[in-house]
Amino acid sequence: MSSALKEQISRRTSEIEETIYAYLPPAEGLQKTVISAMEYTLKAGGKRLRPMLMDETFKSFGGTDRELIEPFMAAMEMIHTYSLIHDDLPCMDNDDYRRGKPTAHVVYGEDMALLAGDALLNYAFEVAARAFRGDERDINTARAFRVLTSKPGISGMIGGQVIDVENTGKVINLDILMTIHKLKTAALIECSMMIGAILAGADDQVVKKVEKIASGIGIAFQIQDDILDVTSSEEVLGKPVGSDEKNEKITYVSLKGLDQAAADVDRYTEEAIRIYDSLGLENAFLRDLLLSLTRRKK
Ligand code: IPE
Ligand code: IPE
Ligand code: MG
Ligand code: MG
Ligand code: MG
Repeated sequence: MSSALKEQISRRTSEIEETIYAYLPPAEGLQKTVISAMEYTLKAGGKRLRPMLMDETFKSFGGTDRELIEPFMAAMEMIHTYSLIHDDLPCMDNDDYRRGKPTAHVVYGEDMALLAGDALLNYAFEVAARAFRGDERDINTARAFRVLTSKPGISGMIGGQVIDVENTGKVINLDILMTIHKLKTAALIECSMMIGAILAGADDQVVKKVEKIASGIGIAFQIQDDILDVTSSEEVLGKPVGSDEKNEKITYVSLKGLDQAAADVDRYTEEAIRIYDSLGLENAFLRDLLLSLTRRKK
């Protein structure tokens, strides 16, 4: 990755963090513990990829209204963070390290971690609902809200986690694995980019194309995650390596091997970029960002 791109990503990450932190509720009152746990994992770090993709897609389609996009960016990162807190729980992947820190259940206990995940999911919808204004602009906000409620759900991320968990310790074929990857991971990437396009006023046909781009990028992203679980280190990743093997999960790497997995990350990304280019958008940063994910180290 060029140092200019690295610098741009790091600047955008800080700006996004400032934006989304402002939407967190104050940690006070009798609910203080659960709010602290929400804040702990949300602020622990992370690439902020989903809000970044949402915002860049929004800008690509000419979106400028910050009061419209920002609540959705915050909501998206809250939903993603909830999915991580629950994914790490002892009853799921049982991992005790995330974003370079002990996981929420290690610090706050399983009960509070479960509730903090629930709270982040619910609060995400409270926050996104602030984008409604009570005028004609609400048509696109409602379209976006529908995507925000469905992609993380049973036909999206949660659905993928269900198939993932039910098949832990079992032998599965590539078809099932691809369904898992598409749902547990690509669904939230699709959600992010689709909302960016919708809030900027893109029509349904264009949003379908954006969904396709995001689907390919999301699948490539999860294949790379499977690769890094084998090839990286806890220091670099900020989460345990070898988690998949520990949990006897079939991954893209265990099915196809490291070399083929890396080649397929490129293949899914190239196909997504081909569709991206067909849209004729002028956002070099978004294009570079999507391409850079194939070589990501964390
Ligand atoms: C981790 O997502 C979960 C997967 C879908 C692989 P990220 O790799 O985007 O995690 P953060 O947000 O940077 O911590
Ligand atoms: C989980 O996939 C994706 C989610 C919906 C959280 P993984 O279980 O591989 O994610 P990591 O490796 O723990 O981040
Ligand atoms: Mg998992
Ligand atoms: Mg996991
Ligand atoms: Mg993983």
